[in-house]
Amino acid sequence: MSAGGMSGVGANGADATGSGLATVSATRSGSVAAGTVGIDPIRSGAPVSHRPLGILAALPQELGDLIDAMRAESGVRTITHGQRDYHLGTVHGAPCVVTLARVGKVAAAATVSALIHAFDVEAVVFTGVAGGVGTEVRVGDIVVANALMQHDLDASPLFPRFEVPLLGVSHFAANEALADQLAAACERFVAEEGAASAARFGTREPRVHRGLIISGDQFVASASGVKALRDALPDALAVEMEGAAIAQVCYEYGVPCAVVRTISDTADDHAPQSFVSFLTEIAGTYSNAILTRFLEARRA
Ligand code: ADE
Repeated sequence: MSAGGMSGVGANGADATGSGLATVSATRSGSVAAGTVGIDPIRSGAPVSHRPLGILAALPQELGDLIDAMRAESGVRTITHGQRDYHLGTVHGAPCVVTLARVGKVAAAATVSALIHAFDVEAVVFTGVAGGVGTEVRVGDIVVANALMQHDLDASPLFPRFEVPLLGVSHFAANEALADQLAAACERFVAEEGAASAARFGTREPRVHRGLIISGDQFVASASGVKALRDALPDALAVEMEGAAIAQVCYEYGVPCAVVRTISDTADDHAPQSFVSFLTEIAGTYSNAILTRFLEARRA
């Protein structure tokens, strides 16, 4: 495919065909209990509808109160695996495994791989913040990915710029149904609380965008950096550091995934301050509002 083109998009729509069953040693309780997990190579065989949803973010602030909500609803069983804590329980009626990927593509790929193989998740949802790249995308807006790609992947001239060598694609489509459900949850949040949230946080009333999210192992924080991204990838709406890695691993294993990002900064020289204040003051509120509506609608 041509560099940056959308042909050969990896469709992330397949049902998972079953992955490794987690063997847990922790006890179930209302409070967090640490344990370890071993990988049982036997497929769980659980019906798709009973398998948990994997929910992850890079940083704790980006998860909001999700683990507290799980603790209140079902209790939390926490399993430590590969230096990550995986929190198992039910949130708004949905069985979930909630974890932090930490920052960057390798961390994200390792974490989602464990969600698939050790915890047999049915689908994956990633939530967090991103830098705005699209000219219409402002701080406080929300971007739901239709597709994701790695803006810093370049094995040219051996392979076209951005293409994942030997996979033959550069863009990974989000699962359409999941992305639609996330976008609907975002629209409901904006309709019900957008004005209040804008007044509270001093942002404009949030807008929901759908389109391309780009990922790389850099925090983009300069006018020249964000211009270079816009020039190379004019369709890009937002930049972050994990989403495309999650989408690639999910594509390779046929697990549906979707990514939602709130815009914390515009990836320019003001990005570091804007990111920190958004992360500490606002990100959790957005995540709570979006995930609550998303999970409640799945139960309905
Ligand atoms: N996540 C939030 N803002 C970002 C930025 N400017 N660059 C990369 N990742 C981000």
